[in-house]
Amino acid sequence: VDFDELEDFFSRQRAIRAYDLSRAVDDATIERLLRAATFAPNGGNRQMWRFLVIRDAGLKAGLAKIYEEQALIYTGGRPLQNTTSWREVPVLVAFLSEKGGGGPSIFPAVQNFLLAAHALGLGSVLTTLWKAREPEVRAILDVPEEIEMHAILPLGWPDRRYGRSKRRPVAEVTYRDRFGAAW
Ligand SMILES: Cc1cc2nc3c(=O)[nH]c(=O)nc-3n(C[C@H](O)[C@H](O)[C@H](O)COP(=O)(O)O)c2cc1C
Repeated sequence: VDFDELEDFFSRQRAIRAYDLSRAVDDATIERLLRAATFAPNGGNRQMWRFLVIRDAGLKAGLAKIYEEQALIYTGGRPLQNTTSWREVPVLVAFLSEKGGGGPSIFPAVQNFLLAAHALGLGSVLTTLWKAREPEVRAILDVPEEIEMHAILPLGWPDRRYGRSKRRPVAEVTYRDRFGAAW
């Protein structure tokens, strides 16, 4: 793997919230992404992650209502811009885990999924805004008590090309030896 290419690849993996709805996402593609997710590091290799692939229109509409209400609270009432409603997204993928140690292992798997999606030209975004309404989300999806819910990722083909992400320089967020000492 060429590091410069890899670095460029990382910088172009963006939070994609708007999709080209003329293009579908098939199950085989989702399975490839989930397989990539399962190569992630995980505690004791116990693989306690569970994935829920949601295509049902009624379920997506129920989740969309909750998500959009929460998003409006987050934005202070400003309608979401450049965002495809979850009613219309091709698919939502929920990242879950068995209770008893699976939780900390989920985000490496989410990241693998995001990077794999980007490699195929797909777009996605990690969301947790719905968490404030988790009991309702659980009820919609029949998620039992012994399963934790972590993230829901809409997935589709990006509506347009996106540029690189903007991040603070490493030196601004890194210290040497003792917290506060310049890198
Ligand atoms: C833990 C976590 C929770 C997030 N929750 C949401 C969310 O609920 N809705 C959303 O649109 N984006 C969510 N994001 C995406 C961030 O907004 C996004 O990563 C950030 O703005 C940087 O975007 P960029 O990578 O395109 O530069 C979340 C990201 C993380 C890591």
